[in-house]
Amino acid sequence: MIKVLFVCLGNICRSPMAEFIFKNMVDKKNLSEKFYIDSAATSCYNEINKEGIYIEVKKILKEMKIPFNEHISKQITKEDYKKFDYILVMEEKNIFDILKIIEKDSKNKIFRLLDFSNNPKNISDPWYTGDFYSAYYDIVYGCEKFLEYIIKNNKF
Ligand code: 4NP
Repeated sequence: MIKVLFVCLGNICRSPMAEFIFKNMVDKKNLSEKFYIDSAATSCYNEINKEGIYIEVKKILKEMKIPFNEHISKQITKEDYKKFDYILVMEEKNIFDILKIIEKDSKNKIFRLLDFSNNPKNISDPWYTGDFYSAYYDIVYGCEKFLEYIIKNNKF
C-alpha cells in the first residue's frame, strides 16, 4: 500500500481538495485498496479552531462531482513523516515549514505536487488569491501526473 499525505498551510483549502480529488481518481481506476490517502497542515491555527473544509472548496468539489467527507484540519506530525511514503506539498514554503516540525527529509519523501508534472511550480494559495478554480485545475493536473508516475514506475 502506498501512503500519500497532501500538505498545505491551512489544511482547509488545497490539501483537502487534493486528498478528495486523488481519492476519486484512484477509485475510478479501481486502485483504492492500493492507497492510503490523507491531508494535513503545516500550521496549527485551523486545528485549534477545529476548522473544516472551506466553503468555496466544498462548492467546487460538489460542482465537479467529487465525493468528500467532513474533514477537520490537523497539523502534520513527526509520526506522519514516518508513516507516509509520499508527502506532497503545494508550494516551496510548505517544505520549509514541514522541516521546522520534522527537522530533516532524511528519506526524500517530500515533493511539490507539480514536480511530477511537465510544469513544476507552486500551487498558489486560493485563501489569499481568491482563485479556487486555478488551484483546482493545478491540483487535478498534479494528481494525474503523480498517479502516472506511480503506475509507470510500478511503485505498488
Ligand atoms: P490552504 O489555505 O493552505 O490551501 O488550506 C489556507 C487556509 C487558511 C489559512 C491559510 C491558508 N489561514 O491562515 O487560516
